[in-house]
Amino acid sequence: RAEPLVLGIETSCDETGIGIVRGRTLLSNTIASSMDEHARYGGVVPEVAARAHLEALQPSIEAALTESGVALTDLDAVAVTSGPGLAGALMVGIGAAKALAVSLEKPLYAVNHLVGHIAADILDTDAPPLEYPTVALLVSGGHTSLLLVRDLTTDVELLGETMDDAAGEAFDKVARLLGLPYPGGPEIDRAAASGDQKAIPFPRGLSRASDMAAHRYDFSFSGLKTAVARWVELREAAGEPVPVGDVAASFREAVVDVLVTKALAACRDHGVPRLLLGGGVIANRRLRDVALERAEAEGVTVRIPPLSLCTDNGAMIAALTSELIMSGRAPSTLEFGADSTLPV
Ligand code: KG4
Ligand code: ZN
Repeated sequence: RAEPLVLGIETSCDETGIGIVRGRTLLSNTIASSMDEHARYGGVVPEVAARAHLEALQPSIEAALTESGVALTDLDAVAVTSGPGLAGALMVGIGAAKALAVSLEKPLYAVNHLVGHIAADILDTDAPPLEYPTVALLVSGGHTSLLLVRDLTTDVELLGETMDDAAGEAFDKVARLLGLPYPGGPEIDRAAASGDQKAIPFPRGLSRASDMAAHRYDFSFSGLKTAVARWVELREAAGEPVPVGDVAASFREAVVDVLVTKALAACRDHGVPRLLLGGGVIANRRLRDVALERAEAEGVTVRIPPLSLCTDNGAMIAALTSELIMSGRAPSTLEFGADSTLPV
């Protein structure tokens, strides 16, 4: 089967991502982010994100075509994220994708954002091909999900996800209460460098034996956020200085510990010696180090695609669609809309 030339559009959150792939080869990956516009609100504002997508889409598509040297008429298919994500933001990308596909008379594929994150790995040509089954841990500002991937195009099972805040969101909220700017992940990382991760025993959400029975692969970070807030308040009430480095390092350790522990439990339970990491929080050095170290001790191989493919992007959407086409999947019909809670 010939390698399909696919343009992918990703607008589920604050990144306008346009990617072009041929088969498993990445030709372009342009990303425009409205992050700066959200900074003063301390988190992504859906309405602001949707408007930013509307403005960024056309120039981003032009840039991706120029970068790849591809003409629109050469495309074999157009792909777009239809969920999960912010409904208004998704709708902008879907509208653009439908307009492109209809005007070019090309097939259109609506795909799942989380499965797209897994597909990003395929574009990492420095790594050997992805083997199945694999456990995937996806952590970003919008999601924290643990999946069992038996086959990328036919069999992806959601094992668990966050019951409240996403891990990246927790970083953003804790940064805010420590007086650090948005996005909080890199700021917490910087502050943590001068702190002691063992200084404060913050709680590990849904990790007690009683929670593990029903929520073995689920996450919860809102209790941790509250624990940090209370700890800081007590310090301030006592008129004592807040050791920002220790709080940041101890908080980060609590997040990292629970992410890695549950991901490796999934590997063990399912007899899967492979773990794939994805999402913007993977930028966290400590998370990568702890995952690599503890996985190695358990005989689990960790795969981490390049960061430009871990954060939200259109190339992963195009890559997944290319795989779907090569596996014989029929295109979507034009009736689909945005599904903010689309299951895998
Ligand atoms: O995947 P991503 O770029 O997009 C969205 O989720 O929209 O992830 C962004 C999230 C933010 O919450 C940010 O604080 C977090 O990833 N993040 C980090 C780090 N860098 C970014 N979290 C922890 N440590 C980091 N170094
Ligand atoms: Zn994402």
